Amino acid sequence: MAATRSLSRTVALIKINHPPVNALSTPVCEALIKEFAEAIKDPSIEAIVLCGANGKFCAGADIREFSSASRRTVSLEGINAEIESSKKPVVAAIEGVALGGGLELALSCHYRVAHIKAVVGLPEVLIGILPAAGGTQRLPRLIGIPAALDIIVRGRHVPATEAFQLGIVDEVVQSSAIDAAVQMARKVIGKPLASRRLSTNTVQYNINVDAFLDTALEKAKRQFRGAQAPLACIDAVRASAQLPYQRGIEKERQLFASLWATGQPQAQQYAFFAERNVGKWTLPSGERWDNVRPCPVRTAAVIGLGTMGRGIVTSLSKANIPVIALEQDTKQLDLGKKAVNGLLEREAEKLKKQGSSSPDGNGLGSVHFTLNFEDLKEVDLVIEAVYENMNLKKEVFRKLSSVMKPDAFLCTNTSGLDIDEIASVTHRPELVIGTHFFSPANIMRLLEVVRGRHTSPTTIATAMSLGKTLGKVAVLVGNCPLFVGNRMLGPYLDQANYLLEEGYYPEEVDQALEEFGFAMGPFRMMDLAGLDVGWRSRMEKGLTGSRVPPGTPARQREGKRYCPLADMLCELGRFGQKSGKGWYQYEKPGGRNARPDPWIRDFLDKYRNTYHIKQQAISPEQILQRCLYALINEGFRILEDGIASGPEDIDVIYNNGYGWPKHRGGPMFHASAVGLHEVLMVLEGYHKANPDVPSMKPSFLLKKLAAVGGPPIKEWRTQLGKLPNKL
Ligand code: 3HC
Ligand code: NAI
Repeated sequence: MAATRSLSRTVALIKINHPPVNALSTPVCEALIKEFAEAIKDPSIEAIVLCGANGKFCAGADIREFSSASRRTVSLEGINAEIESSKKPVVAAIEGVALGGGLELALSCHYRVAHIKAVVGLPEVLIGILPAAGGTQRLPRLIGIPAALDIIVRGRHVPATEAFQLGIVDEVVQSSAIDAAVQMARKVIGKPLASRRLSTNTVQYNINVDAFLDTALEKAKRQFRGAQAPLACIDAVRASAQLPYQRGIEKERQLFASLWATGQPQAQQYAFFAERNVGKWTLPSGERWDNVRPCPVRTAAVIGLGTMGRGIVTSLSKANIPVIALEQDTKQLDLGKKAVNGLLEREAEKLKKQGSSSPDGNGLGSVHFTLNFEDLKEVDLVIEAVYENMNLKKEVFRKLSSVMKPDAFLCTNTSGLDIDEIASVTHRPELVIGTHFFSPANIMRLLEVVRGRHTSPTTIATAMSLGKTLGKVAVLVGNCPLFVGNRMLGPYLDQANYLLEEGYYPEEVDQALEEFGFAMGPFRMMDLAGLDVGWRSRMEKGLTGSRVPPGTPARQREGKRYCPLADMLCELGRFGQKSGKGWYQYEKPGGRNARPDPWIRDFLDKYRNTYHIKQQAISPEQILQRCLYALINEGFRILEDGIASGPEDIDVIYNNGYGWPKHRGGPMFHASAVGLHEVLMVLEGYHKANPDVPSMKPSFLLKKLAAVGGPPIKEWRTQLGKLPNKL
């Protein structure tokens, strides 16, 4: 039964029962309507409590139904209107979550009681839509414009205690919210309900609403770069202040329809489900997420407390896992300790604000700092984050293998070195795995979990489960140079560099990609990461520096096009933000405000003159095509090589680790939306004119999929089934 009804004396308890999250599918809505109508009709019932089974109120509309052929026939707002107009008091008992349509349902009830650990919110904006069952009209009427706008536009989860302070819920309880709601229902029987019907209230405000919302709109346009849903949310909230309720609802409906027509909801909902599907890993041998048990990670260690190590320690501690943090010498240890303690103080502060710190501590795992590998003897899992140098990594793994207990897992945070080579120096290659965090590691959600040739299924399960514990989106990938995300970045950055050679300036290329929706264009991103990182790696490969054979043309390596511009900047000490100068200039070393640098313009003009490069007329559209299709083409190669198990995995990596705009679904989704034939044509045209850029040669898989008519992305796996799988 999708909804059940029971009786506690004169109070009817209607329970939504649709595991796992009590989403409001059509059958649930139909059952709700039926149970509610019967409770209203039954003269022995004086009040109604609405709750959810399994400790969850409701996670909103069933998102799967949005894209299904049988579009929903039941109006959620219709149900809400029925509930609100009931003459018998209705109390929502909120446990777990009341999100989206779930909160809208609760807002139509006359009272709301929440468990202290519950969260409420209207996260529709995160799946490309707006609350469309009265949420944008009822919430401002309850808590005012600024607070409602913040919740609706950011889609954030509001903890019960904050919801109580804001007035969203009437009571917060530590024990059963259902029992408390039944008690409240009994108390309010016979009391007037008029003021409890939110739709009949007007929005209260003492601000200039138009000016406030205009500012919010401008800010949202800048912040969300092309995403339409936040803007529609603001329009809908404006309607709540300007229009009577029913007309506000009509506006909500219209805005929903226009959003749907943009294609953004489909992209974001694809991204929502992709994010959940990547946790369901499967190996060619049949082991899977649901038949391999992860080992518990009760204690962990981190080696190296630089940029990454300090974030990883914080992330583990935030998950309440005690950590041992090891450095190479006292100076580095002190530096690392100071940084970690600073990050942990901020985390403790946040937990305190949320009321999540426990009486016996601040809710964070303890951190013990050391220089001594012997201290790691009893630890369950270690994450190495020392410099990106194979010999150093091997030395560290040799030590770890000899000192740690035999069943301890050994993880490396390398951004692209060979996991098998690192594992080869240990006595337990089956327990070695790549855990590639992204910077800053305590904030970024992505974790690439890299399987080596000998990595066991249990090790994979443990690393994937640890990722979940840390609140990350963990994606299992195969072992190849640079893995998935960074490997795709190479051809993308090459194209960005070539565009500079051909006449563009960094800020122009960045602007095109930022207008597309990227959080940061390629040059600002390189400046942030540090240009010296790539420079050192190119020197190691002999692409630049003293190991380049004499007579090598400046713009060619082994017959392929090469762009030396970044090397030239590094030779001048322009490493990006850290040195105050890179592709841009900054207010000081470590400064964050990128300003176009006239020096760079001059430098690029001279460079083009030196090499007699003719400026070309390239449209912003072509900038996008060249950079994005280069990235996408490499994505297809990765699928072809069996390094990622599906296009969704790649998209989740790009959405969560590389600032790809979620309203465009991810690079592979984008390719499918643009049309594979179109992508193929552009790549073919470019490669024909530029045979010395092999990364633009269309991949076999792209050609194959385009040849069968460019099937929808969900059908690509059928084609992939016949390709090798290196997971
Ligand atoms: N509809 C359909 N399926 C949903 C769903 C929803 N609203 N919310 C979650 N699910 C599914 C997930 O896809 C997943 O399915 P799977 O087990 O087959 O992979 C399962 O429920 C569990 O979800 P999570 O793995 O995300 O579980 P967590 O415990 O980590 O998180 C959650 C639970 C916080 C509820 C999270 O799932 C979430 O944020 N859900 C989306 C909430 C949302 O966006 N609601 C608004 C919906 S749109 C709406 O209500 C429109 C209205 O305004 C008219
Ligand atoms: P970093 O240079 O900031 O820090 C490295 C730390 O390791 C230093 O504090 C150093 O003292 C310590 N160290 C060196 N040898 C050691 C030893 N023998 N024992 C203990 N500690 C030792 O480097 P960063 O950026 O933190 O990178 C670390 C690893 O993470 C590298 O493999 C890198 O490729 C990878 N990575 C880096 C990312 C980034 O954005 N910086 C992103 C993802 C991965």
